[in-house]
Amino acid sequence: MSDDSPIKLGLIGTGIFSRLSHLPAIETVSDLKLTACANRTIEKAKEFAVKAGTISEDKVYSDIAGLVSDPDVDAIDALLPAQFTLDAVNQCVAAGKPIAFEKPIAATLEQAKEIVRISRGTDLPIAVLENFAYWHIAHEIKAPLAEIGDIIYFSQYCTGPFHTDNIYLQTSWRQKPEHVGGFLSDGGVHQVAIFTEILGEVESLSAQTKQVRELSGDVDTLTSTLKMKSGVLGTFTYTSAVSYPKINKLTIHGTKGTVAYDYSDRNNATLTLFTAEAPKGKSIPVEKNEQDGVPAEFENFAAAVKAKDKSLLHVPSEKGFHHFAVICAAVESGKNNGASVKVAVP
Ligand SMILES: NC(=O)c1ccc[n+]([C@@H]2O[C@H](COP(=O)([O-])OP(=O)(O)OC[C@H]3O[C@@H](n4cnc5c(N)ncnc54)[C@H](OP(=O)(O)O)[C@@H]3O)[C@@H](O)[C@H]2O)c1
Repeated sequence: MSDDSPIKLGLIGTGIFSRLSHLPAIETVSDLKLTACANRTIEKAKEFAVKAGTISEDKVYSDIAGLVSDPDVDAIDALLPAQFTLDAVNQCVAAGKPIAFEKPIAATLEQAKEIVRISRGTDLPIAVLENFAYWHIAHEIKAPLAEIGDIIYFSQYCTGPFHTDNIYLQTSWRQKPEHVGGFLSDGGVHQVAIFTEILGEVESLSAQTKQVRELSGDVDTLTSTLKMKSGVLGTFTYTSAVSYPKINKLTIHGTKGTVAYDYSDRNNATLTLFTAEAPKGKSIPVEKNEQDGVPAEFENFAAAVKAKDKSLLHVPSEKGFHHFAVICAAVESGKNNGASVKVAVP
């Protein structure tokens, strides 16, 4: 890879999200060019290569070993069920190639710790693709937050509708999850990314969990109380098991007012500031989030790879670890009838 040529990217896991999201996002990043792909079911990789239009037939592989050893691949994009990510990271690092991989960081805390250990031991950029950490809200909320005094308490309330025709629900690895908490870690890490991006890390929590839908394969509903490292208190409720509607709300209360962010419809999110001057609420403009943060995470990965500087990564493995560790702590607490659990550190 020369300084002005695009990074040659190899993609492993040509499933739903690679086609619907990664492919169009990568196409928007001038520093990236998809040159190879791999998939366990190679026919799907071949179809993906045709759809991409930039991958020749001889650059289609059935496993990651072929992909990482290809000299025409500078870096890897991995979209696998979480239990296979550690192996992908190991193979990339052994081949001296940076990797960006989909959330959650791993299927278990042990695997996640190992990924952080590997990341700390190499100069290669190793990025967790947590697109919610790239939403504009973390910047847009700063000005209104400065007006509410000291933050006391927050509430993050999220319901993800359960529809049996949801294409993601049809995937067998989601129906029989090896990743802790099944849908709670699959979707819940996104929500943890939103509030921790704004309020910092969680120190400890107490949660109740339950499984509502058999198809979820594991617990699918959690409600919890949190103590943040800053001392701020909060509640976090997440379920993928209700029918209607989809609700995503973050409300932050301070000594002088409240900020409410409603991203139930992420393309029409609202941000409202309540203070003594505006007791009924003042609307703060927010950007539309049509692209879900995915192009931004690839821009960030490309910048770190080009600069050979892993410190440029917005979601390094430590941050992805924390998102996942919060869900793991909630699942553990739920199994122990709400006992307080410290969130693991890598
Ligand atoms: N950021 C987001 O908003 C978001 C949204 C959706 C998904 N994702 C992430 O994207 C990744 C893929 O999800 P998806 O919805 O696209 O699922 P998917 O369509 O089922 O794709 C999974 C991919 O992993 C491969 N795979 C499954 N089991 C394997 C095994 N034992 N060995 C090797 N490869 C295996 C599949 O290969 P086969 O074709 O051979 O089955 C397929 O290519 C997951 O990590 C998920 O968390 C993120």
